[in-house]
Amino acid sequence: MMLVDLLACAHSLVHPGKGILAADESTTTADKRLEQFGIKSSVEMRRKERDLFLATPDIEKYLSGVILYQETLTQKSKSGKYFPKLLWEKGIVPGIKVDEGTEPMADNPDELITNGLIGLEDRVAKYHKESHTGFAKWRAVIRIDGDRLPTAQALVENAKRLATYAKCVQETGMVPVVEPEVLLEGKHSRARARAVIETTMKAVIAALEDQSLDMSGVVVKTAMALSGNKSGRKDTPEEVAEDTVTALVNSIPKGLAGVVFLSGGQTPDQATENLRAIAHYAAKAGAPWPMTFSYARALQEEALEVWRGKEENVDAARDIYMSRLEKVFNAARGA
Ligand code: 13P
Repeated sequence: MMLVDLLACAHSLVHPGKGILAADESTTTADKRLEQFGIKSSVEMRRKERDLFLATPDIEKYLSGVILYQETLTQKSKSGKYFPKLLWEKGIVPGIKVDEGTEPMADNPDELITNGLIGLEDRVAKYHKESHTGFAKWRAVIRIDGDRLPTAQALVENAKRLATYAKCVQETGMVPVVEPEVLLEGKHSRARARAVIETTMKAVIAALEDQSLDMSGVVVKTAMALSGNKSGRKDTPEEVAEDTVTALVNSIPKGLAGVVFLSGGQTPDQATENLRAIAHYAAKAGAPWPMTFSYARALQEEALEVWRGKEENVDAARDIYMSRLEKVFNAARGA
């Protein structure tokens, strides 16, 4: 893919209203999620789960892209087609998670660093050439603990790795989806989450600029500014929208291709209503880049609950999934 295609791909990913399904749970996380819904996991069960979400007719009305895990690249849908090909035929860009998960930092084991730079160039080139992936995601994880965490060291080190991965992905001709996730876990206030998102994003943007990334071909994936899940505080969508958009406008430059949100442990309804309020506030505040969703849990959990791994529940599970996609699509457009 040449640079012009890369830019077209970046723009198509943040096409107004449409968004990205994050179906890139690692094998361990996918198994945990399946077991949570009483589904016994196996390679074949994970393939069936992917088929449930990727082969649903008409998802292209709502989805511009799907992030896949490496196992899924070489699995086939019930129709006999490889999943990436199935997506391309629907006009949906398949992407790939290229980080290899997190581990505690050597100097501060309360914080996490993301691995995956070793051998990255070869892996990225292979995914692009053999599976025709158009974009690649790397997730860094930032923990909040009062004023103690995150440390500057964790922010700088994670930002450096994000920028190194992003440069490698862009040079291969794919779009980097750069994800520094500030976690919801903790007792912190929404104001603290907003400040941490802003500081984190500034560190990431500075690192991307250091690597001379073409920002018009970069998508950033972020959490929303929410009170910690142990704070006892429930934010209104308007509060979330104001703090989230302000943090992002203060830290992300104008030329970026777009911003997408993770759902990060919000209920499907919260992730929908907060996104709608964000779309309204962003229009009012004149946010300079398109914003949309890139949810995993908020798009999939209602359907998994209905599906429970059983063939006879596929249609009902797909109905509830499509209904959630439509709600989130409308929310992203502020409708
Ligand atoms: P959630 O929407 O479940 O937070 O997942 C999105 C994601 O891609 C996390 O890396």
